[in-house]
Amino acid sequence: MKLALVPAAGSGSRMGGATPKQYAMLCGRPMIYHALRALCDFPEIERVYVVLAEGDMHWKGYDWSLPEEKLVLLRCGGDTRLHSVLNGLKEMDADAGDWILVHDAARPCIDRESLERLVEGVEHDEVGGLLALPVADTLKREDGQGRIASTVSRAGLWAAQTPQMFRQGLLIEALKRAPSDQTDEAGAVEALGYSPKLILGDPRNFKVTYPGDMILAEAILKNRMKA
Ligand code: CTP
Ligand code: MG
Repeated sequence: MKLALVPAAGSGSRMGGATPKQYAMLCGRPMIYHALRALCDFPEIERVYVVLAEGDMHWKGYDWSLPEEKLVLLRCGGDTRLHSVLNGLKEMDADAGDWILVHDAARPCIDRESLERLVEGVEHDEVGGLLALPVADTLKREDGQGRIASTVSRAGLWAAQTPQMFRQGLLIEALKRAPSDQTDEAGAVEALGYSPKLILGDPRNFKVTYPGDMILAEAILKNRMKA
């Protein structure tokens, strides 16, 4: 069975809006709606679990029109993204062998083709994997004083996205032991000695982080609605 888990318990401090960024409006809907819509519409995913902050007062203020039989709300957010994911994994109804697709609420532009590539590329894998993009820009390491210390080769470097897809049993084990500097599921799985599989993502599935990102996300979603 394949299940989705969407951590949505962050505060969006870099976005700095009046509401947490997952509720910032994009094309007339809260940002998280778009990610949930894509996951609910993907036939292979049987249920979509959303992890909200315990005291979330925002969710109930919107008309979601999402399939109720597929969507499950959990109010068990933690103090970091990985804690929110681990709390959600403990509360959701899943078995050790089930595939869990963990997807950020802050990536509203996830597309069906990327989900298909991920599922096809990972569902027969021993370890699991994630969407990621080969780094395109030239990379500079800073010296701590706003100047370049060195140029870092981008050969073999990928930028991690979500969804990240792992079996429930391995994911719980990895997240329980995750070193505190890890921020994604793959990093926690790597720390156990495994090598997750890289699946080509799409640049449009970027993480909305700063206020200026909203314009780009809105343009991508609008463009897709027209097609
Ligand atoms: N997240 C979460 N629980 C946390 C922190 C983050 O569920 N304690 C979620 C966010 O809601 C988001 C995803 O993890 O969907 C990715 O995190 P990020 O983009 O960093 O969002 P925020 O932590 O909310 O933003 P910031 O780091 O700017 O405060
Ligand atoms: Mg954060």
